[in-house]
Amino acid sequence: MDPRLSVIDRRLEKIENIIAVSGGKGGIGKSIVAAASALILAKNGHRVGLLDLDFCGPCAHVILGTDKLYPEEEKGIIPPKVNGISFMSIISFTAGCPWALRGSEVSNAITELLAITQWGMLDYLFVDMPPGLGDPALDAIRLIKRMKYLLIATPSKVTLDVMKKELQVLEELNMRIIGILENMKRKENESLSSKLDGLKVSFLGSLDYDPHLEEAIGNVPELLKTGFARQLHEAVEKFI
Ligand SMILES: Nc1ncnc2c1ncn2[C@@H]1O[C@H](COP(=O)(O)OP(=O)(O)O)[C@@H](O)[C@H]1O
Ligand SMILES: [Mg+2]
Repeated sequence: MDPRLSVIDRRLEKIENIIAVSGGKGGIGKSIVAAASALILAKNGHRVGLLDLDFCGPCAHVILGTDKLYPEEEKGIIPPKVNGISFMSIISFTAGCPWALRGSEVSNAITELLAITQWGMLDYLFVDMPPGLGDPALDAIRLIKRMKYLLIATPSKVTLDVMKKELQVLEELNMRIIGILENMKRKENESLSSKLDGLKVSFLGSLDYDPHLEEAIGNVPELLKTGFARQLHEAVEKFI
């Protein structure tokens, strides 16, 4: 029995809500939704954390515009504050170098990061999930007991199909589902809500494709001014 497992429960016990942002596929906006939701709630006075669990392709730090992250040591490590958010990412430990990990190494790194991080009291912790339902996602489910899932899907049939499969697995594992948020909707796309027949999950709304989002990546004040952030704010109000 890994002694770190009981430590993880204690590390997370003062966090009111743990929200995993997931959706099956890569490139659908999980990281930007996780980071921007955290920023929006922090700006509104909540105590918020953001954990980048996409160890093979971490990028939340790029969205936040920071790579100089030095966690403080204090009976574990305290996540650095970035724009009011307690932020933890594997990039704090990789010195900017790329790294490739096998499944068991990823599991070990996730366990270690969860065991050493001192989040303290938080109203919300957003977990930026890796794509797919491989080892890292299953480890997160195993290790972070109280996660609720916010699922992202784009108008693509491919994305929708993969998201539905993830939903099925999550339901079989009795995970709590907050709802489905559509992202990158274009004018010509029919709303995803019409394609969710038979699913017993809430539809939280649609975020349009925002051509100005890219230039705001890495610049938090500009990011919070985008149409994307405005629409996300409305959606976030529905599930907090
Ligand atoms: N609504 C949107 N409008 C325009 N670009 C978007 C939108 N949502 C996400 N993107 C862009 O798509 C890319 C992938 O987003 P990301 O959050 O990294 O996806 P994931 O975490 O699912 O792999 C990023 O460049 C992001 O800025
Ligand atoms: Mg991502």
